[in-house]
This record gives sequence, C-alpha cells and structure tokens, in this order.
Amino acid sequence: MENETGRPIFAQMIGRDIPSLLRTARELEKLPVAGIDLNLGCPAPIVCRKDAGGGLLRNPSYVDELLGALREAIPGRFTVKTRLGYTEPEEFAGLLEIFAKHGIDGLTIHGRTVVERYQTPVHPDFVKKAVATMACPVIANGNVVDVETGRNYLLECGAAGLMVGRGAIRNPWIFSQLQAAFTRTPPPVPTYRDLWSYVIELYEEIARETAKLVPAAHVQRMKKTLAYITHGLEGDFEFEMRRAKTPQDFHRICKTHLDRDGILPARPPLDSKLFCGFETLAKSGTL
Ligand SMILES: Cc1cc2nc3c(=O)[nH]c(=O)nc-3n(C[C@H](O)[C@H](O)[C@H](O)COP(=O)(O)O)c2cc1C
Repeated sequence: MENETGRPIFAQMIGRDIPSLLRTARELEKLPVAGIDLNLGCPAPIVCRKDAGGGLLRNPSYVDELLGALREAIPGRFTVKTRLGYTEPEEFAGLLEIFAKHGIDGLTIHGRTVVERYQTPVHPDFVKKAVATMACPVIANGNVVDVETGRNYLLECGAAGLMVGRGAIRNPWIFSQLQAAFTRTPPPVPTYRDLWSYVIELYEEIARETAKLVPAAHVQRMKKTLAYITHGLEGDFEFEMRRAKTPQDFHRICKTHLDRDGILPARPPLDSKLFCGFETLAKSGTL
C-alpha cells in the first residue's frame, strides 16, 4: 500500500483488548504511516459500552496498562487522541500523568468530557495544563469553526496546533484561512459557487470510494455530511436537502441554492445546536 498524498498519515486504532491492539499496531507499522494514534475520545454509546474510545477513560489504570503495552510495541510515533475525562474535566490531571509516563509522541485533546458529548463549550484551560505538563506537542481540538475560534483557542491554551473536524467539513477553506491569518496574507473568500464545486467533488469522491454504489443510499450517506454544510445557510437549503431522495433531487437542490456569487458566512449561526458552544471561543479573544 502506498501513501500517494504527499502528506504524513497517522493510522488510528480504537478498541480495548490489548493483544488485539498490539496485533493491529504491528500490522500498521508495516504500512507507510507517520505514526499510530489511539482513540480515547469517541463518545458513541455503542463504542463506550464496550469500554473502547472514550469509554476507556472510566478506567485510568487500564489506560495505563494499555499505553504501556502499546508504547513498548510501537517503535515509531505513538500518539493519543483523548477527551478530558469521562464525567468531569477534573479527571484530566490523573490522565495527564499517565500520558506523560508513557512518553507518547503527541496528544490531541478534544476539550470536553465524554458525557459532554458535543453539547457544551470546550475547556481551553485544561488543554493549557496539558501544554504545561507534556513533553510532546499538544494539539487542541473542538469547536474550531473559523479563524477567530481557532486563533482564540490557541491563544488561550498555547497548543502546538489545532485539529479541525466538523468545521472543516462545513468549510474546507478553514485551513488556508487560518494559515493566511497566521502569515498575514490574504485569505481565500469562498462563494456559494465554490461551495457547490466542493459538494460535487465530495459527492463524486465518496461515490468512487463506495464498493457497491446504490444511488439512493449514496444520497442518504451524503445528506449526513451535507447537514454540516447546509446548516445555517440562508433560504431553505437545509430543509430541502433533508428531504432529498434521489441524485436528481440532490443536484437540483444544490443548483437552486449554490449557483450564485455571494460570499459564504464565515461561521455557523451563533445559537447553533450542531456546533454547540463555539461562541464562547469566538468571544474570548482578549488574552
Ligand atoms: C461523524 C464524526 C466522526 C468522527 N470520527 C472520529 C474518529 O474516527 N476518530 C477521532 O479521533 N475522532 C473522531 N471524531 C471526533 C472529531 O475528531 C473531533 O474530536 C470532534 O468532532 C470535535 O472537533 P470539531 O468540533 O472540530 O468537530 C468524529 C466526529 C464526528 C462528528
């Protein structure tokens, strides 16, 4: 298997069984990956019920054992993606001791607990503690939706970098916009028509990656992604897209709402339920 992207790719593992994770890590080490990451953050009930992902944070001594075993087995870069704890952010201090003990090579922190899911603002002060404690680079994650939220998160916690998830699905220009802000160069200013090209590219790329393409099922799959993209845009785009059934519906609705020159809003609506709590980061840039 080749990595043709020209960029480093980390492989992420999720699970709880130590022998299985060790076996997987050894297989991944044979591939052209830049490193192996362990998921300690996924809040999905089906994952947490099996004590995997964020579910592992309920049992720090097991995390200790797991990290010890993986660190010993992974000669290359070994990184962790975590939340602040399972129930309370105060659990994070104990977790940090474990992460530091095992000499991980990078720590990405989604600044919420598992029980906070996606429903609260993030807690940059806890990420700041990680920056002060850990010898490795710390990456801040959660609720970065535009340049201001990204810049403020970094200002508040001093992390080495940002990870952007849903905000990048909504606005894939966010990375070059952030880079432009940091280098004081002009940022890209995407229009509705640029968004249209992006949606079509996503539609076609995901179709290419789908083993058995069933058009109606592909539309349903795309609607999950489109939920982040249509959210808060003016008119009935969001409403109509939720009702799309066929590829014809999908493309007609996109054309109706995106075939125009106007500039896209930089961020989701302030009272957004989908990007809940981002306004706290948006307002906090006074440090
Ligand atoms: C649909 C979906 C799938 C995700 N899958 C993963 C995953 O496989 N691994 C991971 O570390 N995080 C995963 N995440 C979490 C994101 O990486 C990120 O931590 C979270 O969405 C908060 O950041 P954001 O506000 O920038 O989206 C997922 C999030 C969503 C919404």
